[in-house]
Amino acid sequence: MPAADPAAVSELRLRWGGGGDDAGGASRLWIGVGALAHAAPRLEPWLAGRTVFVVAQPPVLEGHGAALDALTAAAGRRVDLPVPDGEAAKTVAVAGELWRAMLDAGGKRDSRLVTFGGGSAGDLGGFVAGCFLRGVEYVQVPTTLLAQVDAAIGGKTAVDLPGGKNTVGLFHHPRAVVADTALLASLPRGELRSGLVEVVKMAFFLDDALLRRVEDDLEDLLAGDAAALAPVVTAAAAAKIGVVESDVREGGRRRLLNFGHTLGHAVESALGYRGLRHGEAVAYGILFALRLAEARGPGWLDPAAGDRLRRLLARLELPPLPADALAVDDLVERLGRDKKARESGVVWVLPASAAAGGVEGRMVTEVGAGEVRRHLAAFLDDPFAPATPRSAGGGVL
Ligand SMILES: NC(=O)c1ccc[n+]([C@@H]2O[C@H](COP(=O)([O-])OP(=O)(O)OC[C@H]3O[C@@H](n4cnc5c(N)ncnc54)[C@H](O)[C@@H]3O)[C@@H](O)[C@H]2O)c1
Ligand SMILES: [Zn+2]
Repeated sequence: MPAADPAAVSELRLRWGGGGDDAGGASRLWIGVGALAHAAPRLEPWLAGRTVFVVAQPPVLEGHGAALDALTAAAGRRVDLPVPDGEAAKTVAVAGELWRAMLDAGGKRDSRLVTFGGGSAGDLGGFVAGCFLRGVEYVQVPTTLLAQVDAAIGGKTAVDLPGGKNTVGLFHHPRAVVADTALLASLPRGELRSGLVEVVKMAFFLDDALLRRVEDDLEDLLAGDAAALAPVVTAAAAAKIGVVESDVREGGRRRLLNFGHTLGHAVESALGYRGLRHGEAVAYGILFALRLAEARGPGWLDPAAGDRLRRLLARLELPPLPADALAVDDLVERLGRDKKARESGVVWVLPASAAAGGVEGRMVTEVGAGEVRRHLAAFLDDPFAPATPRSAGGGVL
């Protein structure tokens, strides 16, 4: 673990809440190489004399436990709560076990909780913190790129039910997010790629300089270079904070973050959450959204913008889309079942070239099922091909 270099650690803040009985507040974010060491003295008063429960993924605890020790040293007592690795952690049963263990260990309303791991541990830990004794304060220490740029930011916590992902949860903002990019050096290339797709998703609409940086530094980023990752995580986190602050409860703008996720979720669920990582499925979802946007004809998305994104996604060397395991009718049916679908229909986030330059995301509900079906068939054949405007099966139904 490199020593903390203050110049390498960025400080951001996310303001949230207000309204109803929600008093509002702010989360602090420390991001960069050495963020853990940087955060330790700053969190000392928060931890001093308290019990801290650490909800951790065992491989992360094994590989990076020493880096966390410095952070939690100020606590009166530390109780580690290892959880199953990956999505298996996000169940009501695991949450129940943690609540019981916390009670047995003498947890109180002013005890502290720290999550240590990827988005799965973060989502579970935030949920457990949000419900335990009606809510204890917690800090997220995300250790995957996806969690550092996305899952740990915005206060959404959840566990899964057998019938659906993230079906039981609540908004519970962490007191702080400590995103140390030095931890990402051990992340497999596929996990880095998956997280980078979320970065690209945000950069495309919100931060052209970030998109250019990803294009320029792609090899270092995919290799887990902590110094190259630091400014990228900082800029992506800032972009997400901007969206979340303007739309805390996901009524409008926050849905832009769903770019690529409409089809991405359907593909993930059709594959039984195997074969493709989340970000990889989202990359295919982005390619499909590009196709729908391009098929809406001239004046919608500048072809150069679509090609640029396609070229970048191609450089990620995604695992191939298992088209044999995917069927058009099944995907269409899953699209309708998506948690984010409205009664008025499936909501697509489609990119459009903005009058002022750049690309904006537009929420579109009027894509007919027939149109989706026709494009899906062509997409499964060749996901990277652009749509030919309208004639490729467009037309308004
Ligand atoms: N709350 C939100 O707003 C939000 C947003 C996006 C995603 N999510 C959730 O995040 C979850 C996915 O998170 P994820 O992609 O981080 O996956 P994950 O938490 O399942 O972690 C993936 C793998 O990486 C390993 N790992 C973690 N840190 C490592 C490190 N530093 N070095 C080596 N290996 C490491 C883990 O042990 C695990 O095997 C999903 O459940 C998703 O629903 C939540
Ligand atoms: Zn995502």
